[in-house]
Amino acid sequence: MKTLLIPAVVVLSLCASVCGLRAVETPPYMDVSQSLESRVEDLLSRLTLEEKISIIHADSKFTTAAISRFGIPRRWLDDGPHGVREDIGPDTWQSAGRTDDFSTAMPSGICLAATWNPELGFSEGEAIGQEARARGKDIMLGPGVNILRTPLCGRNFEYLGEDPFLTSQMCVGYIRGEQSQDISSCVKHFALNNQEFERGTINVEVSERALREIYLPAFKAAVQSGGVWSLMGAYNQLRGQHCCENDYLLNKILKDEWGFKGLVMSDWDGAHDTRECALNGLDLEMGTEKKYDDFYLAQPYLDLLKSGELPPGGLDEKVRRNLRVMFATHVFDAGRKTGSINTAAHEAVARRVAEEGIVLLKNESHTLPLDATKLKTFAIIGENATRLHAHGGDSSGIKAFYEINPLDGIVKRAGEKVNVIYSEGYQKNGGADLAERAIAAAKAADVVIYIGGLNHDKGLDCEGADRTNMNLPYGQDALIQKIVAANPKTIVVLEGTMVEMDAWLGKVPALLQAWYPGMEGGNALAKVLFGDVNPSGKLPATFPKKLSDSPASVFGAYAYPGTNGTVTYAEGLLVGYRWFDTKNIEPQFPFGFGLSYTTFKYSYLKLIPGDGMNEIVTAQFEIENTGKVAGAEVAQLYVHQKNPALLRPEKELKGFQKVFLKPGEKQMVSIPLKQAAFEYYDDGKKSWVADNDSFEILIGSSSRDLRLRDNFKLAEK
Ligand code: BGC
Repeated sequence: MKTLLIPAVVVLSLCASVCGLRAVETPPYMDVSQSLESRVEDLLSRLTLEEKISIIHADSKFTTAAISRFGIPRRWLDDGPHGVREDIGPDTWQSAGRTDDFSTAMPSGICLAATWNPELGFSEGEAIGQEARARGKDIMLGPGVNILRTPLCGRNFEYLGEDPFLTSQMCVGYIRGEQSQDISSCVKHFALNNQEFERGTINVEVSERALREIYLPAFKAAVQSGGVWSLMGAYNQLRGQHCCENDYLLNKILKDEWGFKGLVMSDWDGAHDTRECALNGLDLEMGTEKKYDDFYLAQPYLDLLKSGELPPGGLDEKVRRNLRVMFATHVFDAGRKTGSINTAAHEAVARRVAEEGIVLLKNESHTLPLDATKLKTFAIIGENATRLHAHGGDSSGIKAFYEINPLDGIVKRAGEKVNVIYSEGYQKNGGADLAERAIAAAKAADVVIYIGGLNHDKGLDCEGADRTNMNLPYGQDALIQKIVAANPKTIVVLEGTMVEMDAWLGKVPALLQAWYPGMEGGNALAKVLFGDVNPSGKLPATFPKKLSDSPASVFGAYAYPGTNGTVTYAEGLLVGYRWFDTKNIEPQFPFGFGLSYTTFKYSYLKLIPGDGMNEIVTAQFEIENTGKVAGAEVAQLYVHQKNPALLRPEKELKGFQKVFLKPGEKQMVSIPLKQAAFEYYDDGKKSWVADNDSFEILIGSSSRDLRLRDNFKLAEK
């Protein structure tokens, strides 16, 4: 049962009016007509030192203490980016064993990014926000926006890809949606948590320019465009100081430069020292492996405040930020949204994100879509056809209401007339007999749908460790080759993040990248396979042919995974396609790539000068669906600088738009560019600058399929 906490002053006031006494006035902090800041200041002024301290650290794994005399409720935090995580016990990581903590399981972050549809980001955030409120949560620990620097990072599946512009656009939509539900999002992990290897200690050395241009933009967008109310520090160090107590990141950049007004919390057990936490910008300490009173920002901080070794103003500022988030999310207000759980609309969002996020990577001779009426026997092969993923991956795992696996989705869609043979094919510790049975199934079928890839086992797509290579596990390379030899009509569907494919890619006619598609994933995949949905996903990260081509792997161990506790980002700015394009390395599949069952024609590029203030120039062009089925295209705009004063990547994404077109339909697309689209960060000047130079505006269907181009001269400012 929940206890309703009524502030003492309100009780007094009620009692006074009932008893006919002079009514005590509602305190300003409870008065919704007052400004947020005056409510914060009023409540702050009423708190004792001890009460203030209780606000800035946890009192269980995922809560902070209530202060009942002011009606400050216990705050509930929860993971994470893909839905509302199951509740765990107050002091352990074990499940609380509840039966009312199921949630809609959304596709993983990288699948959302592959939709290139910020409106879907909004819908997903909104749905999770509603479920979070229905579960009584206050702060949701997501989205995760760390840049995919190496294919090996164990948490790439949770994040939004390799490009700062795409991650920014996608996370802003998500945050706005989630926060519209009286929930605070908590963007994470600030910053440079680009690997899980030694994540709690590793020290990152990165150039200021790469920091500003690659690793910080999504966080800045979350703050300045998304209006995010909470931010989580990262476990790792930057330049010798832990990120949860990093003066440069938290005080100088986040709060002073970007004007962040919300709260900074530690990652769980990411705080290390009372003085550093006190002085360097941490506002809420969570998850430290100590008794709650012994947290760095609990008794030890109180002691230093009482002895005068640390200034009281620092504490007030932390409390102020915590209170601000409470008032912004209407914690004290009668009309706070109460949410809803696993509605049909939430399921539809989960399905649409999967439908739009699945990427068609290869489709020779129109192998796809399949026509169920023309096929008699399907062989479905692969452990991922039946494996459930939603609960895995660690903190982002979800106790799903249900999860449609690919086999169930396909069987349902194919209908009763089709004979389906399922064969597992491989297993973690499987023997040769599994492969033999799968080959026999392949021979007996008209078509094979192979569903493999990675999973959330430790050491694959999972928190706490990185992969050690980019291979398909469990002998799948050899298995796929045998299956395609037995039946050339083999469609490969890979779940998880990127893997090397050279062993078999040339032999299979069709390939789909399905990531972790959430609880509606099997239905979404079946719709794509049978053409009810025309695929429109585009890769949010480059797929290298081999790991050794990827920038973080080129410079040896000091650049990844680090030596003697330090990792040096030797590739600098050249992350993802910025590296492959600048160094002329052929990727397996380029950034922004994804096929459709229809074709699109791009024409009539016009560069229209803007007002020179807000918009510098607008690229306008036409897209036409020239095929026979409806579909969506993500038109991408890249900027190339002709004669840069400093090294610049060959091209950089600066705009995109997803357009839905019926067969034969045309649409004019306008992508406005601001000054920022031409700027780079000048280390020497410590500011963003744009050269007075010529730029090429490149429009295309992927970063390597550019259809239109024109030159633009940036006028002197
Ligand atoms: C993860 C965070 C997560 C937190 C709470 C940490 O291990 O890095 O992303 O929000 O745990 O579960």
